[in-house]
Amino acid sequence: MTQINRRHFLQAAAAASLVAPTATLAQPKRSAFGSAAQIEFFRKDPRYREALLRYCDVIVPMNDLKWEAIRHKREGFDFSGADELIGFARKAGKGLRGHALVWGDALPAWAKEMKTAAEAERELVHHIETVVDRYKGVIASWDVVNEVIAHDPLAGAGAMRDTIWMRLLGPGYIETAFRTAARVDPTAKLVLNDYDFESPDPRTRARRAEAIKIIRRLKDKGIPIHTIGFQAHLYGEREIDGPGLQQFCLDLSKLDVGTVVTELDVIDWRFPPEPDARDRAAANLVQSFLSAMSLINRPEAIITWGMSDANSWVTTTFKRDDKRANRPLPLDVNYKPKAMMKVIEQFTNVKA
Ligand code: XIL
Repeated sequence: MTQINRRHFLQAAAAASLVAPTATLAQPKRSAFGSAAQIEFFRKDPRYREALLRYCDVIVPMNDLKWEAIRHKREGFDFSGADELIGFARKAGKGLRGHALVWGDALPAWAKEMKTAAEAERELVHHIETVVDRYKGVIASWDVVNEVIAHDPLAGAGAMRDTIWMRLLGPGYIETAFRTAARVDPTAKLVLNDYDFESPDPRTRARRAEAIKIIRRLKDKGIPIHTIGFQAHLYGEREIDGPGLQQFCLDLSKLDVGTVVTELDVIDWRFPPEPDARDRAAANLVQSFLSAMSLINRPEAIITWGMSDANSWVTTTFKRDDKRANRPLPLDVNYKPKAMMKVIEQFTNVKA
């Protein structure tokens, strides 16, 4: 089947609610694999660097492209951390993703204190122009906006997340951000990155519907948006909504928008205590998610939010009641591949 016929066949199949994804329907091409890199551990642990070199096609600075890191002073930009990680990735011939140009979090104090629309617009545009221009041709894919959809669009407080950008500029800040990024680097993939797209509940459905609305608004105005980023911090206690995810991916593909998995890990605070059982449960969850994500079109990349259980935000943010260490990532604390890595192998270029 040609690529086009195949795509139409898959769309027709999904539209006709052919429920079970089968191996024969899956496309043969694999997604690139990558990981976020946190500079503190990157600097001090050679195993951390080795894991990035060994497994990754793509590296993402975890925190060093956030405003907090680059704009700690209002005047000037500090690219030291970002440059260190990006230099390492380039030397090793790795691809790069940028996270994130606009976010309501990880802002320096001065940015949280902005008072007027004019000021916010000036800073936003200046920031995107400077950062995207610096890494033009180097960072191939940008999270232009991060976490812009309300946690629960059905809660009555509006569909957009309450941030300083939203308060000062209204929802138009998203258009400004994409327009500016596209103007500065017309070759970069421009991504709307957000969380909680994968569960079978009304809140999640509303979040997906909101993403579609934002894409339509941008496209109607001729503003480029290429890809939706699925953070995919997967909660062990939540089911994966396979049919819902497939429908969402189909809707995105009809709008000519691709997918990328940007921050994959498993929040295992409610999973069984024994490490083996927990690793199996985590691998199954990732398998369900990646299978649903890969049926319509392969994600452009599958990026985990770190490589080893030794270093993960899950460990600090989602502690277990039984005080056992979290096991959110594909490598264990000793950098040994776990069951999750075997699953990732099926969908990516990784050879564990
Ligand atoms: C987290 C990092 O992993 C931590 O090191 C940092 O202290 C806080 O931010 N969603 C995102 C990421 O988009 O930027 C967050 O990363 C995790 C949740």
